[in-house]
Amino acid sequence: IERTFVMIKPDGVQRGLVGSIISRFEQKGLKLVGLKFMHASECLLRQHYAEHEGRPFFEPLVKYVQSGPVVAMVLEGPDAIKVGRLLIGTTDPSKSPPGTIRGDLALQTRKNLIHGSDSSESAQREIELWFGQRELVGWEKDSDKWLLERE
Ligand code: GTP
Ligand code: MG
Repeated sequence: IERTFVMIKPDGVQRGLVGSIISRFEQKGLKLVGLKFMHASECLLRQHYAEHEGRPFFEPLVKYVQSGPVVAMVLEGPDAIKVGRLLIGTTDPSKSPPGTIRGDLALQTRKNLIHGSDSSESAQREIELWFGQRELVGWEKDSDKWLLERE
């Protein structure tokens, strides 16, 4: 069982897509263990996107994600990182297949709705960056017995 960090960017909030985006992860069977609505600080976002520092899109990216409130969440499940990325789709929404969040709901890389961790290292780093230990809630989900084989 793995945890991943997902963030709905300001365009997702402004477009009223928070509910439908969270629904996709819920319907897949991933379990919410952390969820908050917040306006991320520039400092937090610079750390979050540190790997892209120096790239031409870095400053516009920080500005975009800082332009309004976001929804930050931690999702748990088998292969949650890979599954989360598959549901989200590719970075450029115009190349992301229908059925993915970006493929169905977005048009351009600059406004691609959502972030998801891309490796176990980034998931761990991002979860620690965005959430305090006490903001994460481990719980038993009754439907897991219909979704997970645990032997
Ligand atoms: P995240 O889940 O947000 O990390 O997206 P990703 O992993 O699919 O893409 P990546 O980590 O490579 O880039 C992070 C974010 O920077 C993307 O989601 C875009 O919002 C933005 N971005 C990436 N590449 C470009 C680019 O070439 N131009 C612009 N304008 N933005 C980019
Ligand atoms: Mg990324």
